[in-house]
Amino acid sequence: MANPWKNQRLKDSALCRLGILFAVTVSIVLMLASVPRTALNKSFSDNDLNNLDKHLENVSLLSVARGNEMSVRLHTRNKSPPRNLDLYPNLAKDHVVIVLYVHNRSQYLRVTVESLSKVEGISETLLIVSHDGYFEEMNKIVESIKFCQVKQIFSPYSPHIFQGSFPGVSANDCKNKGDEAKTHCEGNPDQYGNHRSPKIVSLKHHWWWMMNTVWDGLVETKDHDGHVLFIEEDHFIFPNAYRSIQTLTRLKQEKCPDCFAANLAPSDVKSRGEGFDSLVAERMGNVGYSFNRSVWERIHHKAKEFCFFDDYNWDITMWATVFPSFGSPVYTLRGPRTSAVHFGKCGLHQGRGEEGDCIDNGIVNIEVKETDKVVNINKEWGVRVFEHQPGYKAGFKGWGGWGDKRDQRLCLDFATMYRGESP
Ligand SMILES: *[C@@H]1O[C@H](CO)[C@@H](O)[C@H](O)[C@H]1NC(C)=O
Ligand SMILES: *[C@@H]1O[C@H](CO)[C@@H](O)[C@H](O)[C@H]1NC(C)=O
Ligand SMILES: *[C@@H]1O[C@H](CO)[C@@H](O)[C@H](O)[C@H]1NC(C)=O
Repeated sequence: MANPWKNQRLKDSALCRLGILFAVTVSIVLMLASVPRTALNKSFSDNDLNNLDKHLENVSLLSVARGNEMSVRLHTRNKSPPRNLDLYPNLAKDHVVIVLYVHNRSQYLRVTVESLSKVEGISETLLIVSHDGYFEEMNKIVESIKFCQVKQIFSPYSPHIFQGSFPGVSANDCKNKGDEAKTHCEGNPDQYGNHRSPKIVSLKHHWWWMMNTVWDGLVETKDHDGHVLFIEEDHFIFPNAYRSIQTLTRLKQEKCPDCFAANLAPSDVKSRGEGFDSLVAERMGNVGYSFNRSVWERIHHKAKEFCFFDDYNWDITMWATVFPSFGSPVYTLRGPRTSAVHFGKCGLHQGRGEEGDCIDNGIVNIEVKETDKVVNINKEWGVRVFEHQPGYKAGFKGWGGWGDKRDQRLCLDFATMYRGESP
């Protein structure tokens, strides 16, 4: 992490140095103390930002995205302890941490949270909600959760909180194809000649920031040695999901030693499962996937592959570069009936076909059957291995959108910000 004091021009006496150190320390302490009462309960208005102590501007930020006060606030806020510790003081010994990553679709998040509230066993664990951007409506929903411990984190480097500078749009950014040759603009075109779109790169940045933060950056999870389950703001979670993922992660070593992960849903997002009496080992899907720290270490080891691949989709990046670089097929274990359904509008992913149950108005008609309420996995079952499934794989060149060296650099910085080493 950057040395917070590095940029101060303190060439004078040691006394002066001490004095300023003291002043900065006091302002940080004051800021920490005032955050819960003021900033945290309302949105960050420009006025708030102007009043923020200027000394804090450069603290704890990565060099490529330095100088945004809101970043510093979010960075600080991320250190707040989970909510609901009074209701759920302890986590169960074998808990699977759940990470829900969200952007701005509150009508979806409401559905997801409502479905989570009915999940058997959820009170035993910690739910981490990772935000891409700062949105009041989203906060309200998360703050209303009472069914388990909840920790909120916000990416301090989300393009949505930078106005006028990278990772947001800056005035000097190249906009159209060929601009880089004609003008003195900033930015590198992708393999198709297009320049970056902050709105679109934010998804991959957020995913990578979240992964690094959850595994390596939070006191709550830094030492977690079990699995972490990842879900999104447009996933409907069935009541048996938590017990099912616990069962699958327990069975994984014995039933499928080659499996890297356990999934709640089939990799084909249109499928609700086969309903037969067998476990399934198949390619990693992007709905309700869970893995442990040793798998994270292998992923983190491929930070360069992840950050330099010219595709703005985190999942396609994983399928086309990271997983193939492991040297063996990457299977995940799942049951024969889904415990999670993707219902969101699919328009977020350009260049991809419509997939899954695409519902626009937050009206979701997903039927929960009796069999979705209890674990419907039998420990005696065998495993069917689905080989050679269709989908993105090594050799795919990417949809582009990720050609700007600044995005690649920020991405690499995320991989080292908690480790202080080069990936
Ligand atoms: C923050 O860093 C930038 C770039 O190094 C520098 O120009 C600016 O003066 C710094 N701001 C403060 C308040 O130290
Ligand atoms: C967030 O969602 C609201 C409501 O749908 C919309 O008005 C706003 O423009 C969105 N903001 C961003 C940055 O997407
Ligand atoms: C984590 O998962 C991998 C892949 O399933 C497995 O080989 C490894 O033993 C697990 N590690 C721990 C500490 O359980």
